[in-house]
Amino acid sequence: RARQAASLVEIMQRAAQFYRQQLKQTPHAIDYLKKRGLTGEIAARFGLGYAPAGWQNLAAVFDQYADPALAEAGLVIVNDAGQRYDRFRDRIMFPIVGQRGDVIGYGGRVLDAAEPKYLNSPETPLFQKGNELYGLFQARRAIRDAGRVIVVEGYMDVVALAQHGVEYAVATLGTATTAAHVQKLLRHTDELVFCFDGDAAGRHAAWRALENSLAILSDGSRVGFLFLAPEHDPDSYIRAFGKGAFEALLGGEVVPLSAYLFKELAAQHDLASSEGRSAFLQAAHPLLSQIRAPALALLLRKRCAELANLQLSELDSLWQIKS
Ligand code: UTP
Ligand code: MN
Ligand code: MN
Ligand code: MN
Ligand code: MN
Repeated sequence: RARQAASLVEIMQRAAQFYRQQLKQTPHAIDYLKKRGLTGEIAARFGLGYAPAGWQNLAAVFDQYADPALAEAGLVIVNDAGQRYDRFRDRIMFPIVGQRGDVIGYGGRVLDAAEPKYLNSPETPLFQKGNELYGLFQARRAIRDAGRVIVVEGYMDVVALAQHGVEYAVATLGTATTAAHVQKLLRHTDELVFCFDGDAAGRHAAWRALENSLAILSDGSRVGFLFLAPEHDPDSYIRAFGKGAFEALLGGEVVPLSAYLFKELAAQHDLASSEGRSAFLQAAHPLLSQIRAPALALLLRKRCAELANLQLSELDSLWQIKS
């Protein structure tokens, strides 16, 4: 098993080298990155590449295109008829780097409006999406220095923030933020800020991140949310307004997880009626009961009791919490 994993690492490494070299030789791919405000230096830091158009370019890179390891690495697709072809074609390649510094997967973006916009590596022995965060390897030091990490949705958000000097951002990989993501990040820092796209999908992703963070919170950690205007994502925001404006938002507009939680619950229920307050408690209970941080759990129950117009002792007996 260890030997097989080692050869998958070599395959990914080899492909990354090929894609990087292809980018250097492909002016329209370089132009695309320039148009998005990226310099060659930042492209090099993230190892960006280009997968050329055509179906079997990797056949020239590897001695044996039929090697099952290429399919296992997620670089080659074998169809029902047994034909093999490159998964990534005519795409900007964003290598996903694991914690040892090896390339474990890719995100590939089209250069035009084709669908799907991003194609990601499948789950492989090297790559489990729910555990990995794009950019974490590159950001580790900056996260430590800044004392916080920003979690964004997209590859381009991470790269654009770094281009503007905000080097402590990472992205989930087209999946919801998982408890494993949060746990991993809290090993690097005690402050986590989710900054997703301002659109409806981004707001939905924020709520999912809240739900999946609750069980992981400890009394020393701080999790917050930065909500952008609907037309922005972190990439477009920092390109439009710059690092200073973005860091000003981080300094003043981050909504603590607790405030976001109660704001949403209060918006969904009529706290002026007993029926509304009972429904509010019904919605709050499964969320709050996941919190294992003792002080935070107590403080949030207290706030919950206030909003429901109960004493804390009444809420605790309702929820059968022993004091
Ligand atoms: P977005 O649609 O917000 O794209 O998806 P983006 O990151 O802003 O990309 P640009 O600026 O148009 O280049 C956010 C993230 O969701 C995943 C990717 O990880 C993407 O970065 N995604 C999106 C996919 O996996 N597949 C898709 O087709 C679209
Ligand atoms: Mn800190
Ligand atoms: Mn989006
Ligand atoms: Mn986006
Ligand atoms: Mn974007």
